[in-house]
Amino acid sequence: MTQEDQSEQTNKNKPFFSIKNVHSYYGESYIVQDVSFDVEEGKILALLGRNGAGKTSTLRSIARTDDPVVTAGEIWLDGQALHNMKTHEAALGGVQLVPEDRRIIQGLTVEENLFLAQVAPGHGWSAEEVYEHFPRLGERRKQDGTTLSGGEQQMLALARALSRDVKLLLLDEPYEGLAPVIVQEIEKILREIKKLGITTIIVEQNAVAALKLADHAVILDTGEVAFSGTAKEVLENEQLRHEYLAI
Ligand SMILES: Nc1ncnc2c1ncn2[C@@H]1O[C@H](COP(=O)(O)OP(=O)(O)O)[C@@H](O)[C@H]1O
Ligand SMILES: [Mg+2]
Repeated sequence: MTQEDQSEQTNKNKPFFSIKNVHSYYGESYIVQDVSFDVEEGKILALLGRNGAGKTSTLRSIARTDDPVVTAGEIWLDGQALHNMKTHEAALGGVQLVPEDRRIIQGLTVEENLFLAQVAPGHGWSAEEVYEHFPRLGERRKQDGTTLSGGEQQMLALARALSRDVKLLLLDEPYEGLAPVIVQEIEKILREIKKLGITTIIVEQNAVAALKLADHAVILDTGEVAFSGTAKEVLENEQLRHEYLAI
């Protein structure tokens, strides 16, 4: 076997995404504590746990934001060592974080927000493809992004991530603060994204909604993995739901 064959062999055995024994800090505060899990290509993982459990911090560690600082561990995506990258490098490598606050740029219309996302090389959906999946955004393409409703801003934040080269989509509480009918609309879009086979990690307080969508689930408790298994196992385990999810 040549060296090339060997490395290909190793890659084949590696999960598409994996976070291995990661530890992260905000200054002196030790938050993400030895977190490990994998996500297979095309699957959705629900990352759950009580408020303050470390879900956002884990997503930020994966996206390689400056804060929290990852001090140990490895993060791999499709053979790329994310743990050695800065946030813009991880983004170019296909990590797209849709943050909780959505970060729509003021003074830019819907279409300008989308064009800006496509500046990076190897972009994903065109504006026309976005409007096919999100007709509301098409109707409002000339409107300033910050004048959209909360639900429409969430759609724009999602559309912006999909306009880039996305290998791993990180969604931080996409349903937060949205009316039930809008949640249903976003759920429908997330089901479409699932059909397209985009590997996704979803963090959500609405655990039942996230579990209905997800294949696997990880529950965090004070920065540590308290459970790792299938979404179905969590839905069927009353004790887990009660102890960590208050459902
Ligand atoms: N910028 C920060 N500086 C210091 N501590 C933080 C910061 N952001 C979050 N934390 C703390 O880290 C812990 C985990 O927070 P977070 O990852 O936001 O939890 P979750 O998303 O699960 O609600 C909490 O105790 C929170 O107070
Ligand atoms: Mg959070």
